[in-house]
Amino acid sequence: MSSASTKSRLAFDYRNVMADAIGSDHGLTDDQFAGLAEKVRIEHERITTEHAGGEQRWMDLPDNRALADEIAGFAAEARGRYRDYILIGIGGSSLGAIATIQATTHPFRNLQSDAERGGPRFFVFDNPDPEKLKATLEIVDLPNTLINVVSKSGQTAETAANFLVALEALEAAVGKEQARKQIVATTDPKDGLLRQLADEEGYRTFPVPPGVDGRQTVLSAVGMIPAALAGVDIHALLAGAAALRDRSNTADLRSNPAYLLAALNYLADTRRGKSMLVTMPYADSLFGITDWFRQLWAESLGKRLSTTGVEVFAGQTPIKALGAIDQHSQIQLYTEGPNDKVISIIRVGEYRAKQTIANPPVSIPDLAYLRGAELGQLLDREALATAWALTQAKRPNYTITVPTIDAAIIGEFFFLYELQTVMAGALYGVNPFGQPGVEAGKNATYALMGRSGYETLREELLSGADAASPYVINS
Ligand code: PA5
Repeated sequence: MSSASTKSRLAFDYRNVMADAIGSDHGLTDDQFAGLAEKVRIEHERITTEHAGGEQRWMDLPDNRALADEIAGFAAEARGRYRDYILIGIGGSSLGAIATIQATTHPFRNLQSDAERGGPRFFVFDNPDPEKLKATLEIVDLPNTLINVVSKSGQTAETAANFLVALEALEAAVGKEQARKQIVATTDPKDGLLRQLADEEGYRTFPVPPGVDGRQTVLSAVGMIPAALAGVDIHALLAGAAALRDRSNTADLRSNPAYLLAALNYLADTRRGKSMLVTMPYADSLFGITDWFRQLWAESLGKRLSTTGVEVFAGQTPIKALGAIDQHSQIQLYTEGPNDKVISIIRVGEYRAKQTIANPPVSIPDLAYLRGAELGQLLDREALATAWALTQAKRPNYTITVPTIDAAIIGEFFFLYELQTVMAGALYGVNPFGQPGVEAGKNATYALMGRSGYETLREELLSGADAASPYVINS
């Protein structure tokens, strides 16, 4: 692991998950953490050894500065050339880019003037929703649009379908020859249908690193190309990730934030029945991170089998929430409903905008408390108030504080959550890589769409589909 010049700036406060704060029925004890310390130490050694032996390749991504330089150069040119940019990809091939861009660029970037924005507008084709695709294709300026199709496997049905729709529209607008020049494929360097197509058509390509699951590719070309096109400082993104990696290069569970959060959530789930993990930032711009983390935590830990082949049905359900909006939607449930959740609050030290609240009329003294206050101050006080109220109700909660939101902090979050997930997998005794539970649905989709090789499954799926059932109510 190499050292970074950027220093990690995330702060962690987990006193409200401890039994001292919320009682022993729901809270954790120092003894429980101590009981996991040796296991964490052993797993740290294993991860370090595997990494040294060429596995755990996701840990190296923050070091790929040569790739970042190449992408920054590509983006500098493309930013001057294109008015619009469409990212086509789903899951790990889009969520990280969306999270980065949402966190670090103007919230209404697409509505800014070309000069203010200084780079193409950003559109995503993830869901194959015909209404959204049609609407987007009506809006974008196709002759001045860069299309970036992203797929690690190169054969994801949604991405393939969305790409074919976009390609047809682009070719109709600019012709086949020119269309090829406006397409960039991010995919496996050797394998997959997208690789084959890109090679046949001569698209410019960037690699998805082999040996890294899609949900861990955000710090590769997958996440860096969209981020750089949107003007994000991708070197700072990598430096932040490297800083968190440096900080986490210790087997000591209480001083390694990633291991601490892995152990905390694992203990809360398996010893205190907290089978759900709510991530609740108090900043609109951090909501995308919760979406990205939701995939990471769910696909990595939600496993039927342990690494020794025993049925364990592991996993903690990740939930996304947004403060303060969800105080007026979800907090009632979190505070008084089943005590089955850990709530992870994210606070912001310094919001990037300051907005003083205008003085309330003197005729309404009950609003005087807002006099001279700022919106950011109100939002942050609400984070504190929520943590306090949850603690009063004996609901385990912990707070991560960012000094401010920038590319390096987002890089820290990516690495923190990835390492936390790998250690949590070890504690649950499951393999955090791969997503075997997704395959059945994928195969059924291929069968229902008539893909060759899936004929038997198709017959099975369609047999009896039309039979009358007392459990179906049609209009
Ligand atoms: O984590 C993963 O590998 C998956 O969830 C993928 O991100 C998702 O299925 C998209 O796959 P692909 O990039 O191969 O199109």
